[in-house]
Amino acid sequence: MLTIQSLSAVPAARAACIAWSQAEWGETARFSALDWDCELTRIEEHPIDQVFVAFDGNRPVGMAWMIEHEETGSISHLTPWLSSLVVDPDHREQGVAAALMAHVEAYAATGGDTRLFLLTDTPGIYFTRGWEVLDTADLAGRSVFVMQKNLEPAP
Ligand SMILES: CC(C)(COP(=O)(O)OP(=O)(O)OC[C@H]1O[C@@H](n2cnc3c(N)ncnc32)[C@H](O)[C@@H]1OP(=O)(O)O)[C@@H](O)C(=O)NCCC(=O)NCCS
Repeated sequence: MLTIQSLSAVPAARAACIAWSQAEWGETARFSALDWDCELTRIEEHPIDQVFVAFDGNRPVGMAWMIEHEETGSISHLTPWLSSLVVDPDHREQGVAAALMAHVEAYAATGGDTRLFLLTDTPGIYFTRGWEVLDTADLAGRSVFVMQKNLEPAP
């Protein structure tokens, strides 16, 4: 059974979060494992930012972050953002990313947000889930899509 928890409640999953970040974005972000560890600490100390971890039983199988701001020039006023969505390669195509996206959307709506944003160069996964392209932005020298989704109000 798939469950989703905040990383602050399950610190044992921290190593998996660092390993996924390093494997997926370490090269482009020029981040080391230590840099990712510092980034997770920054998020834990932030009043809004969150790291959510999906578990298959006791095993961490994916993560998604919700962050207040993306520091990307003209779009830095938009908030909040779905970020760092990654699923363990052995657990892909089983709906884990879809569950993490839904969780972050519900969390943002519960906090009173009416829109959620993300940056991606692969928009395909998001089109079928109600996301639309809002703009493009420069992210460390590469052009990426800025996408947005209107959120259902929290019950
Ligand atoms: C992209 C990624 C998060 C998808 O995770 P996943 O758990 O396999 O995705 P799901 O099984 O929940 O699939 C969700 C939907 O996206 C689709 N999808 C999955 N991977 C896709 C891909 N690479 N391209 C296009 N669509 C994709 C699925 O068909 C599914 O659509 P449906 O529900 O309409 O059938 C995963 O492949 C991954 O971690 N990739 C590396 C990191 C990455 O690229 N993250 C996104 C950065 S913006």
